Amino acid sequence: MIRINEHFTKLKASYLFADIAKRVNAYVAANPDKPIIRLGIGDVTEPLPPVAIAALHAATDEMAHRTTFKGYGPEQGYAFLREAIAQHDFQALGAKIEADEIFVSDGSKCDVANIQEIFAADTRLAIPDPVYPVYVDTNVMAGRTGANIDGRYEGITYLESTAANGYVPAPPANATDLIYLCFPNNPTGAVATREQLTAWVAYARKHNAVILYDAAYEAYVRTPGIPRSIYEIEGAREVAIEFRSYSKLAGFTGLRCAYTVVPKTLKARDAAGNEHTLHALWNRRHTTKFNGVSYPVQKAAAAVYTEAGKKQTRDLTDFYLGNAKLIREAVTKLGFTCIGGDNAPYIWVNTGRDSWEFFDLLLNQAQVVCTPGAGFGKCGEGHVRISAFNSRENVVAALARIAATLK
Ligand code: MLT
Repeated sequence: MIRINEHFTKLKASYLFADIAKRVNAYVAANPDKPIIRLGIGDVTEPLPPVAIAALHAATDEMAHRTTFKGYGPEQGYAFLREAIAQHDFQALGAKIEADEIFVSDGSKCDVANIQEIFAADTRLAIPDPVYPVYVDTNVMAGRTGANIDGRYEGITYLESTAANGYVPAPPANATDLIYLCFPNNPTGAVATREQLTAWVAYARKHNAVILYDAAYEAYVRTPGIPRSIYEIEGAREVAIEFRSYSKLAGFTGLRCAYTVVPKTLKARDAAGNEHTLHALWNRRHTTKFNGVSYPVQKAAAAVYTEAGKKQTRDLTDFYLGNAKLIREAVTKLGFTCIGGDNAPYIWVNTGRDSWEFFDLLLNQAQVVCTPGAGFGKCGEGHVRISAFNSRENVVAALARIAATLK
């Protein structure tokens, strides 16, 4: 009989956000008269920027005529988008990234999940705790960990992010090969300074390691001097892959577009000691398993880089940051300590009690959905993450309900 990949049996039964959705759906089914407000999963609520809508319409019209119709595009993305990305997202920051080092895709979740395929099975992992669960789960599926013992997988170096280190872990004392970093952070909302990222790049260079830098929330950075890209750090081109997304920048969660940067200067060895560029490996993987993002969606993404697009996406992220400010103020007034929300759409609240219990309390008493910190790792226990992605009206109503419940 055919056998399964048994590494899957090491995983928790379901993915965190699927688990939460199940609980919320059960509550809604049992309480149809009690409308809930979702501040759980980081899904945007506001419409696409007008420049993206106009680009989608125009590109759809092009698809309607034989002369302008497009079939398969380049798997790595159209040149018009890759060039705009290189220029506006990197070269404008002084980061030396070229258009042909960019791989356009349909989402950072897929990219950050799939990238581990190009590394050896015995790659030593360094993964933050708390963390976006995709980094851990995909490595468990690939067999790079042992069993889950007391909430932690054997074989992972956990980088604890706690109040003690300002939620930004320093490089570990031991050597590791593949390091996952995410700034602005999901779930804590913390940001890393130039000095902190410089220490990580130095660590990776010393150990010939690779940093997987998830910058999906980069558009929320407002504090001057906080790096938006790992490539702003000297020497990062030799040790880092960066992931970016249009989801939280331009409201593309339902449209789907993202990209991954793999510099051509990033190299690793095979077991025999021969050097390979990771760009060539990822290109091989990408062209084999992916057929490109649709033309209209890439046109919509490119529109984000026009002057009007930059203004509209700034307004959008400012709007969610306005929600975040209200959430921070409200939870602080209730006596909780929290971080995040100033350079990120997430607020990480220290509840001082069991995080699933707190989640249930808010769901049952306030009809507000948050995300229990324990779902992001052991260090998340005692915390919840509140997302700023919702309408102003819903955020204000949710905060009033939370205050009434907790007073
Ligand atoms: C989250 O809530 O953590 C995000 O929505 C996850 C994602 O972007 O996939």
